[in-house]
Amino acid sequence: MKKLTAKQLREMWIEFYKEKGHALISSYSLVPENDPSVLFTTAGMHPLVPYLLGEKHPCGKRLVDIQKCVRTGDIDEVGDDYHCTFFEMMGNWSLGDYFKKEQIAWSFEFLTSKKYLDIKKEDLSVTVFEGDEDAPRDDESFNAWKNCGIDEKKIFFLPKKHNWWILASGVGPCGPDSEMFIDTGKEKCSKDCNPSCDCGKYVEIGNDVFMQYVKKTKDGKIEENKQKNVDVGFGFDRLLYITNGLKSVYDTELFVPIIKKIEQLSGVNYLSNDETKRNMRIIADHIRASVFMISDGVLPLNVEQGYVLRRLLRRAINRASRLNIESEKLTELVGIVVNIYKEFYPELVIKQNEIIFAIKNECEKFSKTLLQGIKEFEKVIKFSNEGQLNGKTAFRLYDTFGFPLELTIELAKEKGFSVDEKGYEEANKLHIEKSKANNDKVFKGGLADTSEQTTRLHTAVHLLQAGLRKIVSEDIFQKGSNITPERLRFDFNCDHKLSEDELQKLEDFVNDAIKKDIPVVCEEMTLNEAKASGALGVFESKYGDKVKVYTIGDISKEICGGPHALRIGKLNHFKIIKEESSSSGVRRIKAILD
Ligand code: ALA
Repeated sequence: MKKLTAKQLREMWIEFYKEKGHALISSYSLVPENDPSVLFTTAGMHPLVPYLLGEKHPCGKRLVDIQKCVRTGDIDEVGDDYHCTFFEMMGNWSLGDYFKKEQIAWSFEFLTSKKYLDIKKEDLSVTVFEGDEDAPRDDESFNAWKNCGIDEKKIFFLPKKHNWWILASGVGPCGPDSEMFIDTGKEKCSKDCNPSCDCGKYVEIGNDVFMQYVKKTKDGKIEENKQKNVDVGFGFDRLLYITNGLKSVYDTELFVPIIKKIEQLSGVNYLSNDETKRNMRIIADHIRASVFMISDGVLPLNVEQGYVLRRLLRRAINRASRLNIESEKLTELVGIVVNIYKEFYPELVIKQNEIIFAIKNECEKFSKTLLQGIKEFEKVIKFSNEGQLNGKTAFRLYDTFGFPLELTIELAKEKGFSVDEKGYEEANKLHIEKSKANNDKVFKGGLADTSEQTTRLHTAVHLLQAGLRKIVSEDIFQKGSNITPERLRFDFNCDHKLSEDELQKLEDFVNDAIKKDIPVVCEEMTLNEAKASGALGVFESKYGDKVKVYTIGDISKEICGGPHALRIGKLNHFKIIKEESSSSGVRRIKAILD
């Protein structure tokens, strides 16, 4: 196994696939655009869903990338050896191009060739799909691994639970996968021990997903997709610690400098005891994730992405207080994170002050109430009956002291108590207008749902943005967009509440355009050409990627991934149903097509 620096591993991945005809694309934002099915990009495939479903990608059919991801489902495990809320996924993609045989041979080459990771093939185990009523047993992958020289005994057939990939929303492109594991050489824990077992014998390092199917609705049937795709994901952080023979992702160069700084701020040794180690890991992980979220435009709020960020920051502040670190000192970690990542993500340098400011603000807000809240918590827990903290009290801790429910649950758990979450929800409902505490809630729909209605609403978003710039202010720019099959939601910078008159003019503008039934024209060009053509867009690129530009007559020109309606006459009639504040300086419009 080759010892590599983070930089070497990144470059090795990219070069390997470039040599095989892949175009390098930049990581998309952590906040999925136009897709309400999740709050954050949770896997490399997420931003590529439209292309996996058949939209043409401007960079071609073979792509390589390293995508930023956030997953908070396992937040309680953060602090063990490898769970993180932020991570990067090294990916390569066939969009209706090569398939299983080629991919498995390449995965094998990358893992075992002396030029690349140089892992002994005897140390690898792989899994393939065993087949069921939806799809046959994956003998093709089995044979491909065998032809590479993997011993049959090290190829395991497993059911859908382990060897099938679909997004957490349960809709979109999907298919059987083939996972790759390092066999640590430990004894099998039982006769049936296999790579799906978490006894520690097998450590997963990568996954080849063969997306030849699609699930159009959550409860619908699995159908053949328009094209056969490959989606490969290798966890960058994880591969780095494993190839370097380290015990934990927190021992890699991605974390060591952050932990060193936390030691310095607290005056305590990281290894002094397990609790300290865990607290430091949690702080390091949560601040790293927060830095990346804020750099992608998320701010601490009580809803959606902002709520997740707030939760991470408040959890980090709480852990810091246990190490006697004043919360505002956490801002000193930002520069360290930026330093670790700036070469690959130069935008972090530009955003550094903004990130520090946002974290400082949140620290100020929360540290004022944290100690009082903890005191209150200690008091109420003493008087709680039957090992449960009542929901009203949990809500008061949130409403008065800013304790996210999950933090209260965690504190209660440490004392052997649970929290009446139903009671909390009821109390929260009473206050629903004030704040809506959503976890990583999964909404239905999104662009994974390629229904005609979603596509039409997406086109309406472009007309709406054009109208806002014409009628309200030329400086207006999209801050966020979210589409369900029922409605569109569009956030934009604006310093005032829109008047009745402005709203009416906007509706008229969009409806007049619809009446003209202009075709929506898609062209591919480089980012610089797109900018020169006057196209609007927030696409950040380091590699001179090609982009798609959607033009609607002389009304709108935007850089966008699509898909869109072919003609705007298909939009029928546009109606604004709500205009409200989203956050400071940002307004929100909800609209439908009827
Ligand atoms: N989408 C696959 C995963 O995240 C590669 O594991």
